[in-house]
Amino acid sequence: MFKNNLLEGKNILITGGGTGLGKQMSETFLKLGASVSIISRRESHLIEAEKYFNEMGYRIEAEKCDVRNPDELKKAIDAIEGKTGSINVLVNNAAGNFISKTEDLSPKAFDTIIGIVLNGSSYASLEMGKRWIKNSVKGTVLSIVATYAWTGSGYVVPSAVAKAGVLALTRSLAAEWGHYGIRTVAIAPGAFKTEGAWSRLLPGEQYENEIIEGNPERRLGTKEEIAVIAAFLISDMASYINGEVITADGGQSLYGASMFNMMERLPEGVWKIMRQR
Ligand code: HXC
Ligand code: NAP
Repeated sequence: MFKNNLLEGKNILITGGGTGLGKQMSETFLKLGASVSIISRRESHLIEAEKYFNEMGYRIEAEKCDVRNPDELKKAIDAIEGKTGSINVLVNNAAGNFISKTEDLSPKAFDTIIGIVLNGSSYASLEMGKRWIKNSVKGTVLSIVATYAWTGSGYVVPSAVAKAGVLALTRSLAAEWGHYGIRTVAIAPGAFKTEGAWSRLLPGEQYENEIIEGNPERRLGTKEEIAVIAAFLISDMASYINGEVITADGGQSLYGASMFNMMERLPEGVWKIMRQR
């Protein structure tokens, strides 16, 4: 779909880039000519990702960092920029989530998710934005949200609250920082089978079928389907897209939203009777 050098000159920082969708985005960006650095908390994730990309013939920078801590973030970004030069794309991908009845949550459980998703994305955007404005860098922030940023969702309430905040951040900064040439964009994925999401959100394998049945395409998304949208959005081909969110969920969030979509299950004979009536 893309020219091999689409992302040449892009120096990209991906939070949570060592696993799942973040790792796939790293791979796609590297293949399209970008430089990629990743940060996350667990050294094992960073080491495994570095090894994986080295074996493919790519070099990445990886720094241990908890995005909830703005000082750690600043140090990690300083260290990366010291080695790679000025970062010009930030991907806010790091997240924490789990399913729980909301009444069972402690304040700390709320703080943990809001801290990673909303504060982490805000601190990273702020740190990069300050640098870009000071050095006249026309940077791009891509944030990974979720379709329940608009609708909300039971049983993942801290995540829904935090993703709604990240959506507001994306739209607000598009208006405020657009005149610096800084773009802020987002992707809202539907259901993608990553170890991180599945292990925390699915009570058992049988629920995977329910997710599939609740999707008009009757399937989950593939990680590549997010990575190609990400590549487009951070590329110069998307230079007039600012403050926008692309949903990639096979239509799942619309499927449950309309009153008449259940007519899909209406037997053929009933359609004929309805027409005669
Ligand atoms: C209720 C829970 C809980 C659970 C943790 N807590 N898990 N409460 N139900 N299942 C509570 C703890 O009891 C504690 O509060 C507080 O949350 C913090 O927990 P810790 O384990 O100390 O936190 P920490 O070690 O910082 O780990 C963060 C984490 C963990 C979010 C809890 O799951 C994690 O590391 N996640 C990172 C990866 C991830 O979540 N990926 C999924 C992304 S998928 P108390 O008060 O008891 O001390 C996604 C979108 C999916 O985001 C959309 C699908 C369509
Ligand atoms: P994942 O593999 O669990 O990715 C989350 C990443 O965030 C991990 O690499 C984790 O690494 C990192 N992380 C967590 N807490 C962090 C912290 N405090 N500081 C720094 N890094 C931290 O899950 P995923 O499915 O790929 O999710 C990627 C993104 O897509 C997330 O924003 C998620 O909300 C979004 N999303 C996913 C789905 C889906 O179906 N999979 C649907 C909608 C949206 P460490 O453990 O090493 O810190």
